[in-house]
Amino acid sequence: MEQHENAKVVLDGNTFELPIIVGTEGEKGIDISRLRSITNYVTFDHGFGNTSNCASAITYLDGEAGVLRYRGYPIEQLAEQSSFIETAYLLVYGELPTSEQLREFSESFNEPSMLHEDMKNFFNGFPSTAHPMAILASMVCSLSAYYPGIDMMNPTKADFDRIVVMLMSKVRTIAAFAYKKSIGEPFVYPRQDLEYIPNFLNMMFSSPTHQYKIYDEVVQALKVLLILHADHEQNCSTSTVRLVGSSWANLYASITAGICALWGPLHGGANEAVIEMLEQIHKDGGDVDKYINMAKDKSNRFRLMGFGHRVYKSYDPRAKIIKQCAHDLLDKLGINDPLLEIAVKLEEKVLQDSYFAERNLYPNVDFYSGIIYKAIGIPMKMFTVMFSIGRLPGWIAHWKEMMESPGAKIGRPRQIYVGPNIRDYVPITRR
Ligand code: ACO
Repeated sequence: MEQHENAKVVLDGNTFELPIIVGTEGEKGIDISRLRSITNYVTFDHGFGNTSNCASAITYLDGEAGVLRYRGYPIEQLAEQSSFIETAYLLVYGELPTSEQLREFSESFNEPSMLHEDMKNFFNGFPSTAHPMAILASMVCSLSAYYPGIDMMNPTKADFDRIVVMLMSKVRTIAAFAYKKSIGEPFVYPRQDLEYIPNFLNMMFSSPTHQYKIYDEVVQALKVLLILHADHEQNCSTSTVRLVGSSWANLYASITAGICALWGPLHGGANEAVIEMLEQIHKDGGDVDKYINMAKDKSNRFRLMGFGHRVYKSYDPRAKIIKQCAHDLLDKLGINDPLLEIAVKLEEKVLQDSYFAERNLYPNVDFYSGIIYKAIGIPMKMFTVMFSIGRLPGWIAHWKEMMESPGAKIGRPRQIYVGPNIRDYVPITRR
């Protein structure tokens, strides 16, 4: 990280100098880490919209220009040419693997793909109506009770490598088992002869009486989705993983926190909310204008799900790829989904509307992804689970980067206290 000339801050008539740091793409930041100690002021930044919590070499995104790169590689090239496992390796280890490294990495997912048989009892404890995200979060945290984590005082590379593949492999199995639990079918165990995505599809859709046919088009579409979701720098769930991990909580606990953060409808839960919204519009006769007006009405909390993004102020590059992928998959599978038509109509109208233009609101990654999941047969409640499987390598990469960063500190924001001033306690009999 380059350091340039200092920024000057004038407070109470005194001038203070703060270092300016510059990232490799020319992004500038004012290092305020000493601000309080030299001025007694803190900064105030609701929702961290203007605060960088770390220097990171994993993902670069330019929200104004619609650019997204993992470790320098454009997302468009990775989505088209890479595999999910190769992209995961790139995110976690920083470089694309050689063919030997990729073969070893892929094969290492086989052995840990099974779950400890005792863990199956946990699934039985959940009601059949349980949301799969609740099951996923609980089960990932429970992994810490069954499989040793990393010695946080003395982490070794071998321990780290082991836990990366264990988590990625087991999360896929947990996700499929959570689905099977929700439909009351027996679990289908992972197979060593299948690659990552076909293995997942087989666990999801095969049963003792039915062998699911794995179509290349479906594997390809799912691969694109997982790659597009694999990382997105300091989003809500990734920042959560870093924050929890900064206390040296184990990796399972940190990832569980990320899963919970992702669940919310303003974050990863939006993909589910988009389909609910499109279905509602469909039921309502397809009148997209009514919903656009509702979203613009400030007396109504309704928002158009799948539109807007904290950092993208132009078209989300992932949404562009997913939109094309949705059209291609539905064409290849011969599916005519009225929700896709509504989505296209809604997007067209939104892009012409000044309310959305003035606020830079464009479709985000979640707008078309649900249509693809739906076409594959993945039920709505599993959408955010799919997002979690995709985001896992990014969470792990950020956790690793944070743990290895020499200046890493426990995350502990400040606040501006606005509560009552000191007052004497009044016993209840006198209140
Ligand atoms: N529909 C209608 N209006 C919206 C929408 C929307 N989807 N999103 C933002 N706005 C409006 C707000 O009402 C606000 O208007 P105002 O300035 O008149 O008050 C303005 O745009 C700015 O909105 P903020 O909430 O301040 O923007 P922020 O950057 O904090 O929020 C967010 C980003 C949470 C993604 C928001 O756009 C949203 O709620 N979108 C819908 C949910 C969604 O799709 N989430 C998925 C995001 S992608 C992901 O996490 C994987």
